Amino acid sequence: MTQDNSSQDNAAGQTGGGDLFNTAAGWVLFAGVVGLGLSILSGKYFHGDKPERPEKLGYVIEGVVEENAGPAEMSMAEALNTMPAAELIAAGEKAYSKCQSCHTIDAGGANGIGPNLGGVMGGPVAAKGGFAYSAELKAMGGTWDWDKMDAWLKNPKAYVSGTKMSFAGLSKVEDRAAIAAYLNSKGANLPMPVAAAAAPAEGEAAAPAAGETPAAAETPAP
Ligand code: HEC
Repeated sequence: MTQDNSSQDNAAGQTGGGDLFNTAAGWVLFAGVVGLGLSILSGKYFHGDKPERPEKLGYVIEGVVEENAGPAEMSMAEALNTMPAAELIAAGEKAYSKCQSCHTIDAGGANGIGPNLGGVMGGPVAAKGGFAYSAELKAMGGTWDWDKMDAWLKNPKAYVSGTKMSFAGLSKVEDRAAIAAYLNSKGANLPMPVAAAAAPAEGEAAAPAAGETPAAAETPAP
């Protein structure tokens, strides 16, 4: 009997502890439910978990060509100054293999699918005798300089819409610079352009801004 009693006491004690536990567990559960409900509600109103995507990803920098989507491309003038002229010309001669199917380069060479390119750099645009240029390229006029050749080789059809030159273009400024330097070595040997954004030399911090007669940046005297 005494043993039964004690066992009942124990059981009662346990039940009491169980009630306490259940109550605590109930509150924890309740808190969880409330928390879940709040987070669902706040999710509805604030979209904290789904940041809105901007329409264009990444920073758009004016003047930078998107297809390259890397570090900003250097200018033609900079690309022409990255290595000694002789090395650049040698690199251009190699890259010129992309042009050979349509062009000859030696002075007085035959026209093919495209006109002979001997003397083209520094020479007049669309002026090779015996070649039937597109009206659009003829209308361009002027002479082939570094900037024109850069734009042309980058994307001929974008630069002269209606051109007959079926060539996709060279997306890397390094390639364009090398080929232009090679064409130039077989052309008028124009002087290399001075990289425009060159930092002012030490001690010349107050040099005139670009366009304000920096004698050296103007076309060098012959
Ligand atoms: C699929 C043939 C083809 C390829 C490849 C090609 N060209 Fe041409 N190119 C032409 C044609 C055709 C013209 C004439 C365009 C016109 O009349 O509109 C031309 C014109 C030119 C001109 C203008 C010539 C002038 O007398 O004013 C230059 C410069 C030139 N190409 C350079 C290149 C270079 C450099 C490459 C290689 C990176 C190249 N081309 C690749 C067909 C080609």
